[in-house]
Amino acid sequence: MRKRILGFLILLINLQLSSQTLISELESWRFYKGENPAAFKRGFDDKTWEKVKVPHDWAIYGPFNKEIDKQIVRIEQNNETKATEKTGRTGALPFIGVGWYRTNLKLPEDLDHKKVLLTFDGAMSNAEVYINGKKVGERPYGYSYFYFDISDLIETDKENIVAVRLENQEFSSRWYPGAGLYRKVKLIVKDKISFKHWGHYVTTPFIDKNRAEVSIKSEVNGDSVRILTKILNADGKMVGMNEFHQKAFSNEIAQNIAVKDPILWSPENPYLYRAVMKLYSGEVLKDSAVVRFGIREINYSASKGFELNGKITKFKGVCLHHDLGPIGTAVNRAALKRQLTILKDLGCNAIRSSHNMPSLEQLELCDEMGFLFLAESFDEWKKPKVKNGYNQYFDDWAEKDVVNLVRATRNHPCIVMWSAGNEVPDQWGHEGVGRLKWLQDIFHREDPTRPVTVGMDQVKSVMENGFGAILDIPGLNYRVHLYEEAYEQFPQGLLLGSETASTVSSRGVYKFPVEAGPQKQYDDLQSSSYDLEFCSWSNLPEDDFVMQDDKPWVIGEFVWTGFDYLGEPTPYDEFWPSRSSYFGICDLAGIPKDRYYLYRSRWNTEDNTLHVLPHWNWEGREGEITPVFVYTNFNSAELFINGKSQGVKKKSKEPGLQRYRLMWMETKYEPGTLKVIAYDDQGNIAAEKTIVTASKPHAIKLEPDRKIIQADGNDLCYVTASIVDSKGNLCPTASSRLNFKVEGKGEFRAVCNGDATSLEVFHEPTMKVFNGKLVVLVESLKVSGEIELTVSGEGLKTSKLKIYSSLP
Ligand code: GAL
Repeated sequence: MRKRILGFLILLINLQLSSQTLISELESWRFYKGENPAAFKRGFDDKTWEKVKVPHDWAIYGPFNKEIDKQIVRIEQNNETKATEKTGRTGALPFIGVGWYRTNLKLPEDLDHKKVLLTFDGAMSNAEVYINGKKVGERPYGYSYFYFDISDLIETDKENIVAVRLENQEFSSRWYPGAGLYRKVKLIVKDKISFKHWGHYVTTPFIDKNRAEVSIKSEVNGDSVRILTKILNADGKMVGMNEFHQKAFSNEIAQNIAVKDPILWSPENPYLYRAVMKLYSGEVLKDSAVVRFGIREINYSASKGFELNGKITKFKGVCLHHDLGPIGTAVNRAALKRQLTILKDLGCNAIRSSHNMPSLEQLELCDEMGFLFLAESFDEWKKPKVKNGYNQYFDDWAEKDVVNLVRATRNHPCIVMWSAGNEVPDQWGHEGVGRLKWLQDIFHREDPTRPVTVGMDQVKSVMENGFGAILDIPGLNYRVHLYEEAYEQFPQGLLLGSETASTVSSRGVYKFPVEAGPQKQYDDLQSSSYDLEFCSWSNLPEDDFVMQDDKPWVIGEFVWTGFDYLGEPTPYDEFWPSRSSYFGICDLAGIPKDRYYLYRSRWNTEDNTLHVLPHWNWEGREGEITPVFVYTNFNSAELFINGKSQGVKKKSKEPGLQRYRLMWMETKYEPGTLKVIAYDDQGNIAAEKTIVTASKPHAIKLEPDRKIIQADGNDLCYVTASIVDSKGNLCPTASSRLNFKVEGKGEFRAVCNGDATSLEVFHEPTMKVFNGKLVVLVESLKVSGEIELTVSGEGLKTSKLKIYSSLP
């Protein structure tokens, strides 16, 4: 009984009152892993089921097991000629099988004239939804947003039960998809006379310095209504207003409102307005809605490429999978915000949600923080990449999934392009050309304001069969050697690097001799951070830089990937225990690899970058050649080993690595000090950086990403723990085991060390550091106060860190 009352109170607190409309997040559920044929029934007893908080990923708790979804396949798009065993392809976490979720709905007593909606931001996967034992509907694609009108199934005098059955098939993904109700589920109760869900469409068709026209189209349920709209600026001041008296002829009401002296949205100044809309029937307020939008103009042309607000802008982008490393796919705003904060410092200005619909939280953050967004839909159409992939659903669901993608997200100013697919095998042959035309037309019908791309890898084929020519924006994945030819062939006069680089590296790992090459493999299943290793189909960052810099018709790039992700452990797809990727600019824990500074030296034009690698702890390599690389925005630098100059290196104008990195290939290791001095173009000292040979591990240094977090039960503090010597220098080869304790108003949430071969689970409060570092996640409770993290390890001085949580 107590639990029930508590549940009811939480629900009430979560209810957001927007005039007559109640929106509540359904957070508390019971979960059961496995089949249970009676679980959809109303009277079913779920008391023994696990209590979980949604968003929830049932598989992230592991354990890792090489037998899970072991795929014996030939990966066609990786140019493989025979089938081999791929163990970690989907992360080796237990996401396969059936899972059930159940919760109670507490509804207001008076439901006459009410509409009740149940919304899912995504459910992994093959969702079947039941209300009070009756099936409401289903949604196979795990990344799709969807909702049901459950008004007719709700009973006012009884407890209403929602049951959701999910099932993930084997051989259905090329990466870790996660499992469960991993995104938000909401209940919306509103008047029958109301705005339609996702019914608003805000565009800004006319913009100049003094005035912008804001067009708002709203679909409404109900005949005789009027809308009162106020446009508020970022300070909450009203800057435009409209009252629409006219009776609606169809179910759509269009308003055009002028905003004077508009402040334009851009990555540099992500300025947001709000349209606050009230819907009246006679004098009675029936519904209200707040739609956030930006005023910005996008244009794509052969002569100028991509322009944002009239300014030529190149995409300095990264591709991101949806998993959040140690917390899996359970969507979390703090985790997403941390990723974007790291990417902002990198100078990145764009995100591609590869290869599916992004979370709504990620889009909100990109609006707020200023990132351009390429919103993708599918990794497969009708022709399979994996046996049980989207090919099973394409015919019946593709249109519905695209429609929902566009309608749910079209008011986000960050979205500047749609993607209808990634490397779909339908690029071959003529049927695929028809499918592309069909899908692109759906995007255009739903949103005429943004162009459509597809990430294409079969470049010869799409040049021949017309696939590439149909697209609004031709996107090429890798194949830089074909850019020129494709540009000549395609009619659009521009090209996007929809996926680039796929360079691989492990943080803090350096291999000798230092040589560039594809598909390099080592016994420890790691890749070298000299950033010279890539895949048979891909290339080094510099091969893209040359295209980006020298070809004005290349409108930008999306690097594969910003962060490592679970699954796809190329070049070790066939080697256990590799279970996560090596592609990231940052590792799975979000710690920057060396490559981060290579991109930063180009992309971040506000701050200087001076980074030197490798580390300088090479006991046993004394006197051996140990090359040193420097990533910097300055054009030249001088290197000193123990005070002795190793010469000045200058960036070369010729194509090749020397154009972008400074490399001392003949330096020999001797313990001590490695110092680099960067010079400006006048030869003055511009910046300096020194690293030293560390002595024995001595203590643990703790660095939180924030000192104060919100007491909302979901906020996360990311604390980087580094092993340091007695002088505070990072011990770059340390592998000490650390233990964590969180006391006060917070909880230990997870830990991650970024090692793609580690089989330690993320949710136990102990883990070994990988090359001196790991990241601990501390979660807030719903009460404010002090939180103390204690980190200890054998032979190391224990460290304590205080952080605080405050009420929102
Ligand atoms: C691309 C593909 C990505 C990823 C990447 C790895 O071909 O689109 O999903 O597999 O290769 O290099």
